[in-house]
Amino acid sequence: MLTLGFIGTGNMGSALAAAAAKKEGNRLLLANRGRAKAEALSARIGGEVTDNGSAARSDYLFLGVKPQMLPEVTPELREILAKQNRHTVVVSMAAVTSISRLKDLLGEDVAVIRIMPNTPVMVGDGIILYSCSSEITEEMEKVFLEAMSEAGRFVKIEERLIDAGACISGCGPAFVDLFMEALADGGVACGLPRALALELAAATVSGSAKLMLETGKHPAQLKDEVCSPGGTTIQGVRALEKGGLRSAVMEAVISAYHK
Ligand SMILES: NC(=O)c1ccc[n+]([C@@H]2O[C@H](COP(=O)([O-])OP(=O)(O)OC[C@H]3O[C@@H](n4cnc5c(N)ncnc54)[C@H](OP(=O)(O)O)[C@@H]3O)[C@@H](O)[C@H]2O)c1
Repeated sequence: MLTLGFIGTGNMGSALAAAAAKKEGNRLLLANRGRAKAEALSARIGGEVTDNGSAARSDYLFLGVKPQMLPEVTPELREILAKQNRHTVVVSMAAVTSISRLKDLLGEDVAVIRIMPNTPVMVGDGIILYSCSSEITEEMEKVFLEAMSEAGRFVKIEERLIDAGACISGCGPAFVDLFMEALADGGVACGLPRALALELAAATVSGSAKLMLETGKHPAQLKDEVCSPGGTTIQGVRALEKGGLRSAVMEAVISAYHK
């Protein structure tokens, strides 16, 4: 039995805990400042509600508090991690918080996996970027990936690239949401009922993404395959180019990165 502790069962902490709960052999310890939130989660997915100190005594300890809360939460954890014999792996989802900063807070020899999940984790189809500190062994990484496999696709990335990656996978859902909404608006303008237009837009984005991932084809090739000479789709592509879609999307990623 593998013990996974979660400190901070808010939006992302609870999404990851829910993914972990789907895997047999994972025992969950759930701790949140407002206990009611952890209790509601436990009622939904199982797991024991506990306090931060007890959650820290786990094989994998997920930190799901906001980055600015870390200096408040970590002193207690630092003491517990230093005293216990077992090697707890700390898994931090805190945005823009480096492994080196986490070690400053938790102890120099703490084994850390820094992750950057995105909201589709909530439906088991997330992207989870991750980087490991030098203390993480192959076995620790393997066990972690196995325990969390229901969350989505795990992509190992050099830590120096994690913020850039997060500007696609972390911010991307909002960008894609805008695109889907606009697709649906276009459909509504052409007479489709709103709900149908939204369903078509979402399923089209989801299916196109799957097609690209499964065929490995470049998106330019997939686009060419849909645009027959003199046809309707190329006229739509022309309108998108005129509206600066590609430049706008690149600027969105770069603006997020600079922020
Ligand atoms: N949301 C995302 O899309 C996303 C994506 C990638 C990474 N992240 C990272 O995930 C982390 C959590 O973000 P979130 O959006 O899930 O925030 P959130 O919904 O506000 O969750 C944070 C949780 O931490 C709890 N908390 C605060 N102080 C605590 C303490 N001292 N002890 C125990 N629990 C405490 C809060 O409890 P209360 O209910 O009492 O306030 C809250 O439930 C952040 O570091 C963020 O950078 C989030």
